[in-house]
Amino acid sequence: MTITTSPLEDRIDAAPHDFRVLTGDRPTGPLHLGHYFGTLRNRVRLQQRGVDMFVIVADYQVLTDRDVAERLRETVDGLLLDYLAAGLDPDHATIFTHSSVPALNQLLLPFLSLVSVPELQRNPTVKDEIAHSRQSTVSGLMFTYPVHQAADILFCKGNLVPVGQDQMPHIEVTRTVARRFNERYGPVFPVPEGLLSVAPVLPGTDGRKMSKSRGNAIALSATPDETARLIKGATTDADRTITYDPDRRPGVSGLVQLAALCLDRDPHEVAASIGDAGAAALKRTVTEAVNEFLAPMRQRRAEYANDVGSVREVLRSGNARANAIADQTLQEVRAAMGTTY
Ligand code: TRP
Repeated sequence: MTITTSPLEDRIDAAPHDFRVLTGDRPTGPLHLGHYFGTLRNRVRLQQRGVDMFVIVADYQVLTDRDVAERLRETVDGLLLDYLAAGLDPDHATIFTHSSVPALNQLLLPFLSLVSVPELQRNPTVKDEIAHSRQSTVSGLMFTYPVHQAADILFCKGNLVPVGQDQMPHIEVTRTVARRFNERYGPVFPVPEGLLSVAPVLPGTDGRKMSKSRGNAIALSATPDETARLIKGATTDADRTITYDPDRRPGVSGLVQLAALCLDRDPHEVAASIGDAGAAALKRTVTEAVNEFLAPMRQRRAEYANDVGSVREVLRSGNARANAIADQTLQEVRAAMGTTY
């Protein structure tokens, strides 16, 4: 795995225990290989380095672009299985649902007082989500969820947030909220840093970014047969010689990149090893590479799936820990604001 080093990465290496990571996902469906190479792998790496890890299942945040979160219990169970299968270890990671932590949500009120309406309206990620929303109206939650996300991060005094580029505006909001709170009421919160994931955007089976809504994603929970079928139907082109050239040959190059990531090899090398054997040979290579890569995760997932009780226990104990910490932080906030009666 290639991880470019940065000053922040060096600081994490030197003192992993100085960092508390908070990151997470909206429970909207199964996680796929794009999530794995984009973020999950990085979380497992940070966990192994010894940082304190909090993973939020942001169930309220599902309601930003739809009226009702359908089949939430089922989706959250699946997400927990995906996390555990990918290597998050409940002994080292606190996994919790933010709707289960009342004191976290209460932080939203003072935090909203710290940002202006124009600041909320300027958020580029929110603007983009409004443009792609399936709703005809924009809810108040859509504009305010980045502040809620600040509460997600600050309730446990998370100071390191590994995210993709699209989440960076929300980290900025969080930093603003933390700074302004501290200036107004006294030092309570750290000013967290975003840790940008260095993974390339993973193309799906049609050469465009892998995404569940595009139907081009390979779920971590997919069976080997489903995986083979998806890859068989992938977009390629008429040129028999396989090369890695993302700009000119997005379909073929996406498949090459997928195999390269799973094999931990250079994509040009993978392409050269297939040479002029054509798209069918490429697809065979990709299918084998993906299925072999996912085999241990599927195995772990199946074991956990047989024991739903213990998976839910992971969440219950994560929620208990998150609640204890959130209660403590809310007390500090009340003391700082003079609202302890
Ligand atoms: N907005 C994130 C996403 O859509 C999910 C999320 C909610 C999150 N709260 C967070 C991520 C706090 C990092 C930190 O994927």
